[in-house]
Amino acid sequence: MSADRTPPALDRRLALELAQITERSAVAAARLRGRGDEQAAELAAAGTCHRELSRSSLSGVIIIGEGMEGEVDQLFVGEEIGLGGSPVDIAVEPLEGTTLCAKNMEGSISLVAIAERGSLLKVPPVYMEKLAIGPGYPEGIVSLSRPAEENVQALAEAKGVPASEITALILDRPRHASLVEAVRRTGAAVKLITDGDVAGVIHTTNPQESGIDIYLGLGGASEGILAAAALRCIGGQMEGRLVLDNEDKRRQARALGIKDFERIYRLDDMVQADCIVAATGVTDGALLKGVRFGRDVIETDTVVLRASTGTVRRISTQHRDFRKFHFND
Ligand code: FBP
Repeated sequence: MSADRTPPALDRRLALELAQITERSAVAAARLRGRGDEQAAELAAAGTCHRELSRSSLSGVIIIGEGMEGEVDQLFVGEEIGLGGSPVDIAVEPLEGTTLCAKNMEGSISLVAIAERGSLLKVPPVYMEKLAIGPGYPEGIVSLSRPAEENVQALAEAKGVPASEITALILDRPRHASLVEAVRRTGAAVKLITDGDVAGVIHTTNPQESGIDIYLGLGGASEGILAAAALRCIGGQMEGRLVLDNEDKRRQARALGIKDFERIYRLDDMVQADCIVAATGVTDGALLKGVRFGRDVIETDTVVLRASTGTVRRISTQHRDFRKFHFND
């Protein structure tokens, strides 16, 4: 949070624009909740997000998008988007938790982040090993350079509790079997989630409410950058290390200028300057309520985070003009 009087690089009015973008993307996805069609929900959210970003007062470049140029038509990495205005990097996840939405399970959200131009780390479509804790701890008490057990013990000591009072959040995947065992060996509890590690990382910022002290494990690298942007706003520590375990992945990383394949990225390496993040719930979740469709009203629940001030703004919206959702397009 800036104590000086330098005006923040990103105007606070952009926060409302971002909220409108995620609200509309979330509504598009929510109409397809529980239909079992992941692709349709993803396409609906991405198409809406693209349309709304195109009309925004941004001069944006997609850094984290839906795929590489040539692979997808919209929201590809490098796409320039917006009507012109603030020059920004953009990271989008129009539907984070595609499976959750298709199965109408808790925790899918729509996400957009903007950051000062040139400040978001470009990552290839690979996994990232992630470690995150909330604010209030000495810098560097946990690190990917140390085993999970040590990190859990260090966190417990810093919190002033036995390890048995620590809860780690981990994606429920076979690849995490040994990580889960290692954490449990310390006496700590593990909470498993089926999807949605951006929200997972955000949960560490409010352990009293979420019951989560630490996020651990491998998830999408793109999601890692979005999570880092959120933490830059709310506070907390995060590290990420790209999983570049074959030549093809290393080639893609090299093409983005990555030379050190083992590098541990800290928060400020992943998001190097001021940023704003907006997220709207698609399905109900611990972080946000999902979209509610009424006869004459659609209700959405959004959170907008602003790094320059640390503001966490919750926006509960009743939409009565349905034309903006383009239901008949
Ligand atoms: P999608 O919305 O793209 O399906 O991502 C959901 C998610 O759970 C992310 O939150 C996470 O980073 C990633 O998938 C993990 O990937 P995988 O499903 O391959 O383990």
